[in-house]
Amino acid sequence: MSGCPFMGRKHQLFSSNSSQPEEDDSQKGINKASKGGIVYGEYLQLDKVLSAQVLQSQQKGDKIHDEHLFIVTHQAYELWFKQILWELDSVRELFTKNHVRDERNMLKVVSRIHRITIIFKLLVDQFAVLETMTSLDFFDFRQYLSVASGFQSFQFRLLESKIGVADHLRVAYNRQHYRDTFHGQESENLLRSVQEPSLLQLVEEWLERTPGLEGDGFNFWGKLQANIEEGLKLEKQKLEEMSNSEEKVDMLEDLNKQTELFTALFDPSRHEHLLNKGERRLSYAALQGALMINFYREEPRFQVPFQLLTSLMEIDTLMSKWRYNHVCMVHRMIGSKAGTGGSSGYCYLRSTVSDRYKVFVDLFNLATYLVPRAWVPKLDPQIHKFHYMAECNDSSYNSYSSEDSD
Ligand code: HEM
Repeated sequence: MSGCPFMGRKHQLFSSNSSQPEEDDSQKGINKASKGGIVYGEYLQLDKVLSAQVLQSQQKGDKIHDEHLFIVTHQAYELWFKQILWELDSVRELFTKNHVRDERNMLKVVSRIHRITIIFKLLVDQFAVLETMTSLDFFDFRQYLSVASGFQSFQFRLLESKIGVADHLRVAYNRQHYRDTFHGQESENLLRSVQEPSLLQLVEEWLERTPGLEGDGFNFWGKLQANIEEGLKLEKQKLEEMSNSEEKVDMLEDLNKQTELFTALFDPSRHEHLLNKGERRLSYAALQGALMINFYREEPRFQVPFQLLTSLMEIDTLMSKWRYNHVCMVHRMIGSKAGTGGSSGYCYLRSTVSDRYKVFVDLFNLATYLVPRAWVPKLDPQIHKFHYMAECNDSSYNSYSSEDSD
């Protein structure tokens, strides 16, 4: 038996007995395109988009089939970069205009950041299409690329900067700054993108305001430190009461390492030192906020913030995967030949698959500081009280609504 609702009527619709086929619901409607207005091709400006695939090999009278795929793939990447920048700018605006103080807007932030991660997933996988081209196919038209290289992708640099890749942590390109590749308006826009607050900086400021951090309020950090110190002390006492054994020595050693780790965590000067070395990227207060959100992620107030932190890590992970997939493909396509843009090629790209390019590295490191649930300070009922929209009742936030924000 067929599950198709039209199957039973098939004989009626196409019956040879009837001269006029019966009216079919699928044919009800009118073709509006004939009535005027902007049609599909005009709306999408397809005349421009679809005439932008100019094969240099064909121009030189030596048409190479796979150059078309090479061009379309790069253009598809650039269009998706554009969409990521669109989402990123809107999120940065929600933060800079302080709309996130109205917690209802956090859902918009989280949805758009999540959308960016989904696009990035696509970009990571998209290399597979280009990889259907063999290195020899690529070799056939590579000479026609001249000095063109993805290294000159303005949008890629823009999105790196806007997310928060630090200029001083980037790998140098033939001992030069990457911005030297760009000129005029592009160079100015790149410089501006570095001067404007990045997503990292905006998230940092937002984390610093995490409710519950105030020393004269819930004092999460003070309480956490006291609980951890007490917990470690009790653990040590328990271990010292054990009879001497190799296991006891190992366990004491582990405990000492844990103690050192937490002593460093609660030492602001140690944090400053790691910040200066580029091993931490968030301020001390922001790190505390992020840890607090992690510990209390099941609380209604912290669920959406926790989703945001998870998506930010996802962006970092996917960018690393993008770099990795790209470098693997490059190795396969050109071996250890130099790049068309002039770098050492594979060697240069391999050095960029590094934590230096991880923006939200501190969020990954939070897992280092997880402790037994019993050591996490019990939440104050004051905080429980203002579940979702606490600040909406505060007159200072009345000027922001989720409608006028965007
Ligand atoms: C056959 C395929 C490809 C090859 C052989 C290739 C090769 C290279 C090489 C050698 C570099 C280093 C710079 C240079 O000296 O030229 C580079 C950089 C780059 N490529 Fe590709 N690429 C390919 C496909 C792509 C695609 C599809 C994209 C998508 C937009 C892309 C984006 C980039 C970007 C953004 C950089 C700069 C990376 C950085 O400096 O961190 N490439 N590529």
